[in-house]
Amino acid sequence: MLLTPLLGLVAAFVNTAAAAANEIVRDPDTGLTFTSNYQLYKVNAGITFRVAIPDDAQNYTPYDAVVQLVVPNEVGWVGLSWGGAMTNNPLVVAWNSGNSVTLSPRWATGHTMPTPSSTAGTYTLFQTGTKNNGTHWQFTALCKGCTSWTPSSGSTRYLSPTGGNRLAFGYSSTRPSGGASASIAIHQVHGYWTHDFAGARNANFHDIVQRLSV
Ligand code: HEM
Ligand SMILES: *[C@@H]1O[C@H](CO)[C@@H](O)[C@H](O)[C@H]1NC(C)=O
Repeated sequence: MLLTPLLGLVAAFVNTAAAAANEIVRDPDTGLTFTSNYQLYKVNAGITFRVAIPDDAQNYTPYDAVVQLVVPNEVGWVGLSWGGAMTNNPLVVAWNSGNSVTLSPRWATGHTMPTPSSTAGTYTLFQTGTKNNGTHWQFTALCKGCTSWTPSSGSTRYLSPTGGNRLAFGYSSTRPSGGASASIAIHQVHGYWTHDFAGARNANFHDIVQRLSV
């Protein structure tokens, strides 16, 4: 039968394209150590999601986080969900228009376009660690208010600073036009992974963030 060897080939192809899960990356630009996950949005093309947190982060307590995404230029928008689902948790939608990255914190209560929201975290985009070239763009940003949130009905949720948290992404090939409150097209792909936060702890987090924020 022809199908079996063909499927085997496709699986091998997808595997080589994917980097190790929860790889530890010491970023030379920022000096932060991130845990890093590569998520395919089509065969042989993916987006890298990185998280760094302070090593004084406590369980069941909000803490700051730095997020770094490395995104192929063809991507129209990429969304990150801190709660690992579309609804009732902080989302951020990011896109690159020429030389400027737009970060749009959003919230959804249903499977309709998430709207800009002040309860979806506050981001500070760092110049250091935000750049682009002929193939990719990347951004690095501080988020305050992304590791704990309270849905309008339901109890407060906290991301574990000492273990894995389920995150999610959405991908669209359609680039939004306009600023952070622009309309966005629905994703063609969404996915989930468990992001290790234990390996993302940085002893010098607060000093580095202060330096990057100026
Ligand atoms: C115009 C904007 C958007 C629309 C209209 C939309 C719509 C939808 C719909 C209809 C589904 C259900 C799909 C299914 O059941 O197969 C879904 C699922 C999902 N969407 Fe969106 N979405 C939008 C933006 C986003 C954004 C910005 C994110 C951020 C990461 C996101 C993340 C997800 C995820 C993770 C799922 C899986 C189911 C869930 O967790 O609820 N979506 N979306
Ligand atoms: C292009 O930029 C991305 C993101 O910063 C980086 O990962 C990649 O190595 C760069 N490619 C080249 C050829 O410099």
